[in-house]
Amino acid sequence: MVKLVAERIPDSAKQTPLLVVGVFENEVEEVMNQLGDANANLVEIVGRVLKDKEHTGAFGTICIVHSPTGPMHRIMLLGLGEKKSLDNDKVRVLAGKAALKATEINISEYSIKPFTQLTKDLTEAICEGTCLSLYKFDKYQTQKIGEKSHGPSSLKVSLLVDGNEKDWQRVLDTTKIITDAVNFGRDLANLPPNECSPEYLARIALDLSSKHHRISTRVIERYEMESLGLNGIVAVGMGSNKPPKLVIIEYKGNEGSSTTVPYLFVGKAVTFDTGGISIKPSDRMEEMKFDKSGGCDVLAIMSGLANLEVKTNVIGIVPCVENMPSSSSYRPGDIVRMYNGKTVEIINTDAEGRLILADSIAYGVEKYNPNSIIDLATLTGACIVALGSNIAGTLSNSPELIDRLRQIGEKTNEKFWELPLYPDFNEQIKSKFADIKNIGGRAGGTITAAIFLSNFVNETPWIHLDIAGTAWTQDGTWDKSYNPKGATGFGIRSLIRLVLDELD
Ligand code: BES
Ligand code: ZN
Ligand code: ZN
Repeated sequence: MVKLVAERIPDSAKQTPLLVVGVFENEVEEVMNQLGDANANLVEIVGRVLKDKEHTGAFGTICIVHSPTGPMHRIMLLGLGEKKSLDNDKVRVLAGKAALKATEINISEYSIKPFTQLTKDLTEAICEGTCLSLYKFDKYQTQKIGEKSHGPSSLKVSLLVDGNEKDWQRVLDTTKIITDAVNFGRDLANLPPNECSPEYLARIALDLSSKHHRISTRVIERYEMESLGLNGIVAVGMGSNKPPKLVIIEYKGNEGSSTTVPYLFVGKAVTFDTGGISIKPSDRMEEMKFDKSGGCDVLAIMSGLANLEVKTNVIGIVPCVENMPSSSSYRPGDIVRMYNGKTVEIINTDAEGRLILADSIAYGVEKYNPNSIIDLATLTGACIVALGSNIAGTLSNSPELIDRLRQIGEKTNEKFWELPLYPDFNEQIKSKFADIKNIGGRAGGTITAAIFLSNFVNETPWIHLDIAGTAWTQDGTWDKSYNPKGATGFGIRSLIRLVLDELD
């Protein structure tokens, strides 16, 4: 439990167990001015540490100085690196490093003295870095209990402000709800596939509706999917004895207009992707538990929006399936009639994500006529080849929507890089026996997957986010304190802020 409060800069009588103070490289004397209200002893000790170059302000380095006489018991000197290269994402990383260090030494309360005039973006970055870096997924690690300190069970972080604490508190509160949503999404995506089945995710979605009166959740069962013609989802789910579930979450925040739907979010939730009959190699197959990340993101986004009580309507659709090989699996060669009537020849059962997304998108468009659609999916290994592990492949039919998302991404530091959606790529998914086929060959694998989806979207502005590289930390991921191992919750911050941004 982390609590963030905005507090006026305390007078010298104020006690804090730990004060975090930023130190720029080569500008260490600035710190002395910042320590105006600390006691003389402490100022002198800090002065000596800096003069002796025990702390140089190098980026991310930390030096803790004790004060035997108070009122602050300790000061954490936090290296900010060079002044000219500090940006908000570095602040996010630094806030994370400070939080991790403080909890490592069992501090349950500390204060942060901002190194400069606060802005909204800076405050958000400090809050995000703090709350996202403290995330741990250790519920299955029984042997660690009692062995080693897990840090304090609750933590209070005070951000020292010059005035207007109420305004800053509002920024902190909003950001805290967003980071809670990210950590909720991470918790779901990190679950092992034996625990997290399609039914489990459906239950989580139903829980959301019992917690929030503005959310209603509907779970479409397999037999109903069959009669509705959602055959793409049914086909992928056939090989597993855990039946597929199609989760529909409606959030109604706009009391004036209950039928307009500004956003439809769709997330791929393959609770485990073996590849099916086109089975994957066993090396690192365990990572395919993260193939549900897009769907978990959507559940988290809906939860976050409801907790923020945003005044708009948003629909979330999460097709949940397990892709398994068995005697009842769908096969290469099968031809599936999709929800919108198009027929798809299955060439490779490992290209399952596009089938469940296509039906979900077509269903969402028909039922809700949204103003915009954004889907998130760990869709193609090709996306990792093209863009690496920190950039989401972004494909869209709407330059305006993509521009808005990119601007948000610059603030959140979630990276969205556009790949082209030229209709020519439709050539690659032409089938000899059906309207289209489910793979388009090695060339441009991320694009042909998106082109496949485009066959199920009408003119509605739409963005497809391929989060195969970004959904969990992989080898070669840039080290960020706020992205711990495992699921990252990539996309949740940006998409919640995209909805909020329009309402500001
Ligand atoms: N879930 C995978 C994509 C994936 C692979 C995500 C590795 C993250 C890491 C997806 O269902 C898949 O298997 N895609 C195939 C498509 C191919 C058969 C056209 C792929 O990328 O190999
Ligand atoms: Zn697959
Ligand atoms: Zn998959």
